[in-house]
Amino acid sequence: MTRAWNFSAGPAALPLEVLQQAGEELSDWHGIGAGIMEVSHRGKAFSGVIAEAEADLRELLSIPENYKVLFLQGGQTLQFAQVPMNLLAGRSADYLLTGAWSQKAYKEAARIGRARLVASTEENGKFLRLPDFGSLPFDKNAAYFHLCTNETIHGVEVHEDDETRLFDAISAAAPGLPLVADMSSHILSRPLDVRRYGLISAGAQKNIGPSGLTIVIVREDLLGRAAAGTPALLDYRNQADNDSMLNTPPAFAIYVAGLVFKWLKARGGLAAMAAINREKARRLYAAIDGSGGFYKNPVDVACRSNMNIPFTLPGVELEARFVKESEAAGFIGLKGHKSVGGIRASLYNAVLPEAVEALLRFMDEFRAAHG
Ligand SMILES: Cc1ncc(COP(=O)(O)O)c(C=O)c1O
Repeated sequence: MTRAWNFSAGPAALPLEVLQQAGEELSDWHGIGAGIMEVSHRGKAFSGVIAEAEADLRELLSIPENYKVLFLQGGQTLQFAQVPMNLLAGRSADYLLTGAWSQKAYKEAARIGRARLVASTEENGKFLRLPDFGSLPFDKNAAYFHLCTNETIHGVEVHEDDETRLFDAISAAAPGLPLVADMSSHILSRPLDVRRYGLISAGAQKNIGPSGLTIVIVREDLLGRAAAGTPALLDYRNQADNDSMLNTPPAFAIYVAGLVFKWLKARGGLAAMAAINREKARRLYAAIDGSGGFYKNPVDVACRSNMNIPFTLPGVELEARFVKESEAAGFIGLKGHKSVGGIRASLYNAVLPEAVEALLRFMDEFRAAHG
């Protein structure tokens, strides 16, 4: 069996051990004579699977008791609507724009209710930095403050020290203003202080498991505020009261996510993953910055993402050639997002250091041949 070196932004590489276990259990899960997605979601087998997945996620992220974990559907894109439907409660919400995903979230919120643009870091169509959080004009009466903590397309990440700065700035200027974050592309890549957030959401298909599952972690006091007319299925309170089983949940995706959580725990949890992830990213940025300008990443060094690393080559023809030759050499998923072009390497948890080393060798060879 040959596995490609997979740098896809999402759906993305999953741990081989997880795929193998899921494969072995596909037609007979733990001797029940059927796969886990072939049995009732209300039966003993699946109830155990979802309860264990939640317990393991709570342990990995140290999720406090007063937060609910919801296993939902509709992707992170539906959260862009579901968040304002549930949290606006007739008020306005603050949005920070640091890339394409926070921009989409803002536009969707503005369709549903009142959304205020607090700041945008867009310059000449590019997003390359974070703002000075201390100088943002927070609205202390806003329903929440929304941001995307890792912009998958532009490669801009809110690292732990910036997160602290943001949290401190909000605590000083607008105490109690709930922070709401789209963490789709870096959740579980490092430890996280959940208590800083009112709501965290993530589409699963990057660092969690298969697409089709969206995880929402929400503080209990934010439940029960859904606007009149919110569909029952989209009301967080309803989902929380029904253990995410208001209707049939994405059973297989939840089961695989549960295996990923166990894989993470077996590897020492998120502090261990963070050290590995930082080193993988450091190696790739060093190769880019040390290439004499052949490879370029334009993002402000302080907020370069450890998960998604976009870079350019001298000209679109060379970039197309890089993609083609990389595929011939056993790599997949390196083509940049269509909106920005270039190359992008996504270094999620399941992308092992040896995959990064293989990419660095390929990049060296490519530069030697074409530089
Ligand atoms: C940060 C971020 N937010 C939102 C989305 C959209 O997620 P979905 O496709 O699950 O709706 C993505 C997808 O790549 C993403 O990276």
